[in-house]
Amino acid sequence: MKVLFAVSEVAPIIKVGGLGDVAGSLPKALEKLGVDVDVIVPFYSIIKRGDYKIIKQLTIEVPYSGETHDVSVYKTKIPGSNVDVILLFNQRFLSGGGVDAFSSLKDEVARFAFFNKAVVEFIKASFNIYDLIHCNDWHTGLITHLLEEEVGEERPATLLTIHNVSYQGQSSLELVREVDLSIPLHRILQWDLEDNNINFMLEGAASADAVNTVSPSYAKELLFDDIGGQISDILRGRSGRFFGILNGIDNSYFDPEKDRNIKYRFGVRDWKEAKNENKALLQKELSLPVKNVPFVSLISRLDPKQKGLDLLWESLKDILKLDLQFVLLGKGDKKYEEMLANLSKVKKYHEKLSISLGFDEGLARRIYASSDIFLMPSRTEPCGLSQMIAMRYGALPVVHNVGGLKDTVKDGIDGFSFNIFSPNAFLRAVTRAYKLYGSRKWDAMVKNALKNDFSWSKSAKEYKELYKKVIELRK
Ligand code: GLC
Repeated sequence: MKVLFAVSEVAPIIKVGGLGDVAGSLPKALEKLGVDVDVIVPFYSIIKRGDYKIIKQLTIEVPYSGETHDVSVYKTKIPGSNVDVILLFNQRFLSGGGVDAFSSLKDEVARFAFFNKAVVEFIKASFNIYDLIHCNDWHTGLITHLLEEEVGEERPATLLTIHNVSYQGQSSLELVREVDLSIPLHRILQWDLEDNNINFMLEGAASADAVNTVSPSYAKELLFDDIGGQISDILRGRSGRFFGILNGIDNSYFDPEKDRNIKYRFGVRDWKEAKNENKALLQKELSLPVKNVPFVSLISRLDPKQKGLDLLWESLKDILKLDLQFVLLGKGDKKYEEMLANLSKVKKYHEKLSISLGFDEGLARRIYASSDIFLMPSRTEPCGLSQMIAMRYGALPVVHNVGGLKDTVKDGIDGFSFNIFSPNAFLRAVTRAYKLYGSRKWDAMVKNALKNDFSWSKSAKEYKELYKKVIELRK
């Protein structure tokens, strides 16, 4: 089985968010199961050429906006694997992205329209050898339509994975002309264009041979309009072709026993001493007083709509009344960045609160390894990877009971969850965790968290089965 995994980012080569982690790890796990997967991404200029051995293979021609454009095809591998990564280079259309792949601003949408065209030209230039194209998020929403037009009956099967429905990639009729899609050929496109607006996620969800999302609970939630909007309509009509498969994490990449970013490495037996030693080091690093109080953290894109920053903000002063320390690492929304930074300057919080705006993988690992409690009050969460990483590093998550958080955190067993999305419910859950800290029950919960298996092994098998099914459906 030969699969092409089309995506906007692939860690560690280019990572903007959780999507990059999935693209960097699922293909590796599939390769171990004997699936031959290539990953295809745009060659953004922020991918530094020196960092990986990137070799130029060929040049293809991509028609777009009434002209033909050269696209150079480069190849590298996901480090530590045999998975090929194909990078498509075009200075004008593809080089500028990769900074915030979630934004659906107009030029971002045009970039991915061009990328979709280029992917299809690449498939043609590769003699149509792929059995299935695994498309990811709105960035790849036009690939099925284009394959229908360019390859016809012989086209490979397509699967679209929805990683986050909040970003759909919208643009105007103008763009459809630039892509040169034949509107009468696609009924869904005609319908979508009634308001002179094209929605990439909708096109992908309606046209792919099958659709899935990144956790079973989010798959259920997506059927309701308040979460999925217009996409819910489409998905309700696709029963039997819509699935939920839980993401995994790369256990060899996130491994507290071998992680070079932390000084005191640990496993299930010696977690406690190591965590305290790491905590003391990190307290010094962040200029917090060295003391053995519950260490609470949050690491996230600061996306106020999705990540529950409003809940955090409304309860933060109450949380800080408890005898604990709180550390936040993240970047994103400017308003929240400023409010948080200002709060950390208030004198009475100097010894309790540390805000690091930005993203630093090493610091993230040191925070996971030092934390006792990890907060994830997301309003919605398709899957979420941080709660799994936190548990792998022995930090108990406090989560809103939705989506992938619901599917990975067991209240009172390896974490804490709250059902109602309100500051009070969140504060009560944090207080529950705070009060248990240091008890025998706490230690048992940390052990449960550490023993969880969040690796890809199970989910990669599910993807392999799904691939087979989708290829059959296509025939
Ligand atoms: C998006 C979602 C997140 C998910 C990730 C990978 O970032 O918001 O929940 O874990 O994609 O699928």
